[in-house]
Amino acid sequence: MRVLVTGAAGFIGFNVSRHLLARGDSVVGIDSINDYYDPQIKRDRLALLAENGGAFAFKQVDFSDHVALEAALEGEQFDRIVHLGAQAGVRYSIENPRAYLTANLAGHLNLLEIARHRRSEHMVYASSSSVYGGNTTLPFRVEDRVDQPLSLYAATKKADELMSETYAHLYRMPQTGLRFFTVYGPWGRPDMAMWLFTKAIFAGEPINVFGEGNMRRDFTYIDDIVAGIVACLDHPPADDGAVKAGGSISPHRLYNIGNSQSEDLGEMITLIEQACGRPAERNLMPMQPGDVRDTFADISAIQRDLGFAPTTRISEGVPKFVAWYKHYHGL
Ligand SMILES: NC(=O)c1ccc[n+]([C@@H]2O[C@H](COP(=O)([O-])OP(=O)(O)OC[C@H]3O[C@@H](n4cnc5c(N)ncnc54)[C@H](O)[C@@H]3O)[C@@H](O)[C@H]2O)c1
Repeated sequence: MRVLVTGAAGFIGFNVSRHLLARGDSVVGIDSINDYYDPQIKRDRLALLAENGGAFAFKQVDFSDHVALEAALEGEQFDRIVHLGAQAGVRYSIENPRAYLTANLAGHLNLLEIARHRRSEHMVYASSSSVYGGNTTLPFRVEDRVDQPLSLYAATKKADELMSETYAHLYRMPQTGLRFFTVYGPWGRPDMAMWLFTKAIFAGEPINVFGEGNMRRDFTYIDDIVAGIVACLDHPPADDGAVKAGGSISPHRLYNIGNSQSEDLGEMITLIEQACGRPAERNLMPMQPGDVRDTFADISAIQRDLGFAPTTRISEGVPKFVAWYKHYHGL
């Protein structure tokens, strides 16, 4: 199978591409390699993917520009799409809202149009747990209403789900939207808390702990996320009129992918301290605008349909991340 992976230089897109290549699929990766975080790690990820020779093709393109996107993909064949490229991050959407408009709204529509005109067998795309906003009934279920996003980032992800539903209805395009819950692990994102805490601890600097440390997250290890994405990719939803996870009667379903364990932020910090072998100096800070206090995934839909079962607890995953971080930075 040949798969178009967007955001291939990003954390999750790189890990998915690596998995697909290892099992013998070929990948066309696209990414703008933007500088939202240091692009050096994006180039390092791409260099690893390039070791697969002709099975991996890469195009640097901004997919919010549909003319450039169509030109970049001219002559490229692919059967399925994994659309993971986006402007991520809740806090940055306060500073730079327009980046979300172009990457997440125009970009998503452009990928839907590519899927439609190329008659893609299936498009799996990234949504986010942030669509649950301030919902207080835990765990979050894909059947819950998600009409009160707390950040523009969340609003664009919910809008992506709505656009996908329309395309599934109009053009019978099989799609799966995945609401990821705080993904972490090797080759992770330098803007996320686990990376920032690890970096500060090694540098002997204090860490900024938002929400006075009183936050809970469903931390999901990258290998579990990749297993879930690939299981979805391999099993497109049928166009059989049956109600799908998330409520669609078109070939479009929504799943939570989380570890289904809501962990205390303080516990995560303790595990990083142990793995680094040094204590952290905690700077307790108030909640940031747009942030959600608790996340917790109900994963029964993806468990029932595809047998998804995450296996990595944070007590195992955090030391693996810190070991990779040390190796990557030569510490
Ligand atoms: N990592 C998480 O915890 C998490 C949680 C929920 C949802 N998500 C979603 O999962 C997806 C992947 O996230 P990630 O953690 O790998 O983020 P990432 O920032 O590491 O990867 C996204 C990639 O998309 C690329 N990109 C952005 N705008 C683009 C554009 N206009 N054209 C082409 N490429 C563009 C970036 O250069 C980047 O390499 C995103 O949609 C994100 O919103 C991630």
